[in-house]
Amino acid sequence: MNIFAIETSCDETSASVISNGTDVKSLVISSQTSIHAKFCGVVPELASRAHIENINPVIAKALSDAKINFKDFAKKIDAISFTVGPGLSGALLVGAVAAKALASVYKKPLIPVNHLEGHLYSSFIENPLKPPFLALIVSGGHTELIVVEDFGKYKILGGTRDDAVGEAFDKAAKMLGLSYPGGPIIDKRAEQGNPFAIKFTRPYLKGSWDFSFSGIKTSLLNYLKANPIKSQQHLNDICASFRMAIAETLNFKAFEAVKKFNLDKIVLGGGVSSNFLVRRMFLESGKNNKIKIFLPSPIYCTDNAAMIGCVAYLKQKKCGLNYNSLQLKPTPSLVLSNW
Ligand SMILES: Nc1ncnc2c1ncn2[C@@H]1O[C@H](COP(=O)(O)OP(=O)(O)OP(=O)(O)O)[C@@H](O)[C@H]1O
Ligand SMILES: [Mg+2]
Repeated sequence: MNIFAIETSCDETSASVISNGTDVKSLVISSQTSIHAKFCGVVPELASRAHIENINPVIAKALSDAKINFKDFAKKIDAISFTVGPGLSGALLVGAVAAKALASVYKKPLIPVNHLEGHLYSSFIENPLKPPFLALIVSGGHTELIVVEDFGKYKILGGTRDDAVGEAFDKAAKMLGLSYPGGPIIDKRAEQGNPFAIKFTRPYLKGSWDFSFSGIKTSLLNYLKANPIKSQQHLNDICASFRMAIAETLNFKAFEAVKKFNLDKIVLGGGVSSNFLVRRMFLESGKNNKIKIFLPSPIYCTDNAAMIGCVAYLKQKKCGLNYNSLQLKPTPSLVLSNW
């Protein structure tokens, strides 16, 4: 089954042609980072405008990369999927309108996809694994620990009580005078630094599956007040120590949960799952504890339409191709729910 997928939940305009949930025929991602960098965060109105400018060229390129032209569309594409939420309302609307226009012109079914499920199943594109497994979504807006009992059947264990983990990286980067998005920049600098130079707090919240990252941030702020950055090496050491505190927290909670719920697989998704140390630490702990670790390739960690098409494929296998107008309505605060 060939699905044409569109993702516009935040600041990436993306489209993809994906076959049977795993065979990515094309993937185009147009990032708006340069627009939002000077504000150190995504400006919703600017994001919507950029999506409007980008959506048609991105769709055209995704089709031509998959060797499909608009005349072939009806013959070669079986369904159209799009991110229905959560996300920025104007941004979601642009993707939804484009998907609905294509579906109406070419008379194709529409499959709405929850963006969080995109991150959750992004590993499936390269490794078609089977539930049950433990999923850890670590993105710019979410930090969620979930037992996936079956496709579309979730037990949500916990989430962040304050900042999402990606947000914590981005805010830390701002404190350190680094640019946006801060996660990859801190990660790169951390590779050159000493992770044991500074002991930042580890917010384990024992007895709960929730996360909290505002304490690490405050601990960084207090450290910087007492110890202004004195050299590039000092900055790298701060980045390495901060990254270590976050990676150890994620690792600790995920391995506690996988043992507690008697599972043998951990699946990571979301932008922070491209973090070098997070990846190394999970792979190492997985080896030591005989737990299989699934990490998406970096291109599938951050927002992309291939993961949306992958979920659409899994979802239609279980739920079919008929969705009502409420299910197809862009919903900024959409939560994860069972199929
Ligand atoms: N190597 C990295 N190390 C740490 N953080 C990273 C890395 N690469 C990306 N990030 C962070 O990932 C986030 C972006 O990921 P993603 O695109 O999944 O989030 P989002 O779509 O904005 O949020 P959500 O999916 O929750 O709506 C940013 O906060 C960014 O700093
Ligand atoms: Mg995302």
